Amino acid sequence: MQNSFIKEPYIQSPKEDGVTVMWQTEKEARGQLSVWQAKASLCGDLIYYPQSKEFLFEGPLAQIHKIKAVGLKKDTDYCYQATSFRGGEKLKSPVKVFRTAPAANSSISFCVTSEFGGADASMQLMDKLVTQISKERPDFLLFVGDMVRDGRISLDWDKYIFIPFKRLFSTTPFYFCPGNHEENSSLMSLFLDMPPRGYHSFDYGCASFVALDSTQMATHKKVNGELAIVENAPLTHSPWLKPGDSSLSKERLPRQVLLLLR
Ligand SMILES: [Fe+2]
Repeated sequence: MQNSFIKEPYIQSPKEDGVTVMWQTEKEARGQLSVWQAKASLCGDLIYYPQSKEFLFEGPLAQIHKIKAVGLKKDTDYCYQATSFRGGEKLKSPVKVFRTAPAANSSISFCVTSEFGGADASMQLMDKLVTQISKERPDFLLFVGDMVRDGRISLDWDKYIFIPFKRLFSTTPFYFCPGNHEENSSLMSLFLDMPPRGYHSFDYGCASFVALDSTQMATHKKVNGELAIVENAPLTHSPWLKPGDSSLSKERLPRQVLLLLR
């Protein structure tokens, strides 16, 4: 049987000099990422096509592929194509476009949304949402928790985000903070380019962002079958929130954004 995509390529971690491209194949294969500088042409629709020499980035044998493109120019459009090699077989993605991050202090646009899994959103509703977001052409998306129904179930990630957002994810990077529905699952750091602890920070243009996992910020215990906060227990995220010690207090960029699900 031929190899196929479980998750088509999606953009993660935009930086001034590159991005990370991830995808998942049904069978283990060697990943390769081709990148070209893009030229835009307006022929009814806006179309991008490769115009420079090809930059090649290699990945290991894997089902979940994560390849970092580096050495690119900031705030620039690039075409890319992911290839998975297995024996003599090549599985190629369509050629898509990403844009590298702008210089620090540049203006930015982003879209905030969430709760597809928490609210068990229908495909019809997701289609409308994705179409509306696409029209705005944001630099990136911020998901603020409960993106999936149960973060421990691999198929939920496809059902609630990777399938409905497939088209948008191929060109637009996204970040997120976990909610209770993500269940502190290890799948988050498997499918996304983020650290395993669930909370993380990043800079983009004029802003610094800190994403916290509100379900892990305090120690809980069961009281009468319900989860209750243990008072006076140390906060697991406290270094991020303590004045003088947190990444938010370093004031590296003029705008600072805190993401967490309440
Ligand atoms: Fe929720």
